[in-house]
This record gives sequence, C-alpha cells and structure tokens, in this order.
Amino acid sequence: MLVTGGAGFIGSHLCQRLLEMGNEVLCVDNFFTGARGNIVELQKNPFFEILRHDITFPLYVEVDEIYNLACPASPVHYQFDPVQTTKVCVHGAINMLGLARRTKAKILQASTSEVYGDPEEHPQKESYWGRVNPIGLRSCYDEGKRCAETLFFDYHRQHGLRIKVARIFNTYGPRMLPNDGRVVSNFIVQALRGAPITLYGNGSQTRAFCYVDDLVDGLIKLMDSPDAVTGPINLGNPAEFAIRQLAERVLELTGSGSQVELRPLPADDPRQRKPDITLAREILHWSPSVELDQGLLPTVEYFRKLLVL
Ligand SMILES: NC(=O)c1ccc[n+]([C@@H]2O[C@H](COP(=O)([O-])OP(=O)(O)OC[C@H]3O[C@@H](n4cnc5c(N)ncnc54)[C@H](O)[C@@H]3O)[C@@H](O)[C@H]2O)c1
Repeated sequence: MLVTGGAGFIGSHLCQRLLEMGNEVLCVDNFFTGARGNIVELQKNPFFEILRHDITFPLYVEVDEIYNLACPASPVHYQFDPVQTTKVCVHGAINMLGLARRTKAKILQASTSEVYGDPEEHPQKESYWGRVNPIGLRSCYDEGKRCAETLFFDYHRQHGLRIKVARIFNTYGPRMLPNDGRVVSNFIVQALRGAPITLYGNGSQTRAFCYVDDLVDGLIKLMDSPDAVTGPINLGNPAEFAIRQLAERVLELTGSGSQVELRPLPADDPRQRKPDITLAREILHWSPSVELDQGLLPTVEYFRKLLVL
C-alpha cells in the first residue's frame, strides 16, 4: 500500500495502522511538513519502506492501493509556497491517478472540508457545492483540492478507475506540528509554555474536532468499501465545542496557570464549522468514538515530551 504524505501527521498514523493490520507499506514523502521522527518507530518493521520523493513528479512503483495524503494542510504551511501547493494538489493528483491507472490500484484522495469554502449551509452535506473564492490567499489549497476531486471523478468516468474521495474535517492528535497555527496545537503549546492563551472574539464560535485514530478508521473503511462507493464522503467529528470550552479543557488537562487573552475576531473567521456525517454512518457504518478529553490527553503528553527535547 502506498501512502503519500506518509511522514506527516495523519499519514504516519495511517502507515502505523496499515502495518498493524499486516500490510506492506510504502511511505512516499518529500518531508516538507513531515518528519522522520513521526515514522522512526515504523522503520523497525521490515514491511515498511520510505521513499523521499515529491509527488509533483511521476512515480513508478508497483502497488495495490494508494492513499494520497501528500499536501501541506495548515494555512501557514500551504501559504508558504502557494504555487507549489496547487502543484501538489493538481500535478500530484494527476501523477498518482496515472500510477493507479497503470497498476490498476484503488486510490483514495484526502480532500478537505475547505472545498465547501465559506459555506451558506450548516452543517455541510456532501451534496453542497461550496462557496470558494478562486483568487484569495486560501485558494491555492481550496481550489487545488477541488480540482483534485474533479480529476478523481474524471479518471473514474473516463478510465474506470476505482476512486474514493474523503472530505476530512479538523483533525487533531499527537504528531501535529507545534507551529502550524491550528487552534488545538496552539492552545496546548501556549498552555505548556505558560504563555497567554490567545482567544479570538469572545470564544463563543464553535468548532468540531476529530481525533486522528477515528479519522484513520474512517479512511480505511472508505478504502475497503465496495467499488460503487466513491464518495465524496465527509469524515469528521460532529460534536461541537465553543473555542472557550476548548481553552478551558486544555488549561485543566495541562495544569497550566496561563491566562486567557482576548483578541479581535479575524474578518474571515467562521462562526461555526461542523460536518454532517450521515453518509459515513449509513454507508461506512463509521462514526467517531473518541471524546475530546480522551483525545486531548495523549496530544498534551505528546507536546509535553516534544517541548522538552
Ligand atoms: N489535519 C487536518 O485537520 C486535515 C483536514 C482536512 C484535510 N486534511 C488533508 O489530509 C492530508 C494530510 O494532512 P496532515 O494534517 O497530516 O498534514 P501534514 O502537513 O502533517 O502532512 C502532509 C505530508 O505531505 C508531505 N508532502 C507535502 N508536499 C509533498 C510533495 N510534493 N510530495 C510528497 N510529499 C509531500 C509533507 O511533507 C507531509 O509529510 C492532507 O492532504 C490534508 O490536506 C487534513
């Protein structure tokens, strides 16, 4: 099984699970946001192989299944080199779809809730087409991922490829990068450093967070579903939390004395974001089972160890 972006946050957990299930795993990564540390343990397994490669260039290997996760996922990283971000999404998809076509492999795309853009519909169902700015700072990622979905469906219709498209919502857990600017890692790192917890607005805006183990279950269930199931299918945790509640949970779990500091709400900050996972429940019999506190604990422990290194 090929996992592109396998040294990243979600990819490394996916590689680990696939190995535990008895598969042979090839991890392809250019280490832009991935880290060797994420996969160092996996390298002890003789059925695990790493290839340093940029998927914007063609790849010739023999595989049965492809999980295409390669792409920086947080705004700070995908806006660092926006042209490369679009290339990873589009050229990367073309290269991986070409590989799937040649090897007759099944291929899964890690798409994103960002394809819904700034939605007029809450929560978002897969049938919603989205409202995306084609020329903004986030467009390299949002439009790149939308184009990748188009390519997947055209390869499916035109060449009969077996495709799976997962629209992933906010996911968190160990191996996130401490500097990726996302709210869970931000709060935990601030709390562990005793720095002020920066809360935008009054903290009443809500978010839904999926623990990485749950997400990996969903990805594998989607890959293993019958060929008629192509997606797109939402994968995420619909349990909503106010950002202030998250800050309080983090303060309690870290035992930190950090103060909460209020900042003005950015103009494009959505009030609410939550997935509708009816399809995943019905078709994949999947729903997340890890509660927020349960998932925050190992995440806090991960950052605690990382920050003393
Ligand atoms: N984490 C989330 O909440 C979330 C939400 C929606 C979608 N996703 C999608 O899931 C996937 C994985 O996200 P993540 O959070 O693990 O991010 P991540 O940044 O930790 O992982 C991405 C991996 O892809 C690698 N990569 C980047 N460009 C590459 C290239 N050109 N060639 C080869 N490898 C390359 C990086 O080095 C990294 O290891 C991404 O496609 C992302 O868009 C993630």
